[in-house]
Amino acid sequence: MAGATQPMAGKVVIVTGASAGIGKATAAGLAALGAHVVMPCRDVPKCEAAMARIGGAVPGASLEMMRLDLASLADVRRFADGFLAAHRRLDVLINNAAVVKRRREVTVDGLEETFAVNVLAPFLLTNLLLPMLKASAPSRIINLSSGLHKRAHMDMGDLQVERGWSSYRAYDRSKLADILLTVALARRLGGTGVTANSAHPGLIDSDLGREMSWAQRTVKRWISKPAEVGALTSIHLASSPEVEKVSGRYFAGSREAEPSEEARDGELAERLWHACEELTGLKTA
Ligand SMILES: NC(=O)c1ccc[n+]([C@@H]2O[C@H](COP(=O)([O-])OP(=O)(O)OC[C@H]3O[C@@H](n4cnc5c(N)ncnc54)[C@H](OP(=O)(O)O)[C@@H]3O)[C@@H](O)[C@H]2O)c1
Repeated sequence: MAGATQPMAGKVVIVTGASAGIGKATAAGLAALGAHVVMPCRDVPKCEAAMARIGGAVPGASLEMMRLDLASLADVRRFADGFLAAHRRLDVLINNAAVVKRRREVTVDGLEETFAVNVLAPFLLTNLLLPMLKASAPSRIINLSSGLHKRAHMDMGDLQVERGWSSYRAYDRSKLADILLTVALARRLGGTGVTANSAHPGLIDSDLGREMSWAQRTVKRWISKPAEVGALTSIHLASSPEVEKVSGRYFAGSREAEPSEEARDGELAERLWHACEELTGLKTA
């Protein structure tokens, strides 16, 4: 399914959400290609277990855990400062972590959690790490989206889903936002040697539905593919020479695909970008 990959020795990669599911399998795959993989995690024992598992499967894997709770904008800033102080380069940033909530909850910043973790945190993290990504170019940014974005609509007047919140409405909309922000980012990155693409990994058995009912989780498990299959698209985008210069695109199953019409709306992408700048307190050129 995936195209050719190339060895990644000497490359530094960040994979958020690498303690479970697709992120863990992505970290293992990139470690097997020789990359140094930084795993930002909020649950230290779970992350240590994931590292041990990867280390057992990939002899000589170069892994590093750093603490990060994406549900706090202050913690995203603290992580970025720590990473920039401790590393000299960043070749690939994979914004993989996400949540599906069962109830509407707000973060310490007063933001709806799905939007905060799935959209605002990766937006802020990416922008804070951009200087190092540019200095390390050619480099790549991969934002995990979902095919479920196709049933979503952005409501720019209600980004926090205060009206009619449902688990799926919040999640699907966050994944549409991820594609729109990737388009806006790629436009800003023209000529820098840094690419930005979004990816749908497929329907994958993972921890993502942990807050769903037992019946929903059981059905999902029956029809899902293993996390290793879901990781192939991210690994392809992170390592294949075929996509080295491709930017602003949406991939599904390692192939370029067409996202929804709304996901291709450049004007909407710009409005969302500016809203995210305001909500994260970030000012970009
Ligand atoms: N699975 C699918 O069928 C599917 C389909 C389409 C798209 N996707 C996308 O693929 C990506 C990976 O999903 P997955 O299925 O592998 O999910 P998963 O197994 O639930 O993994 C999610 C990861 O995100 C981390 N995370 C969640 N909230 C966090 C926070 N506040 N701070 C730091 N880390 C946090 C989790 O850490 P903890 O372990 O600490 O909770 C976990 O490592 C997501 O972007 C998802 O939207 C998945």
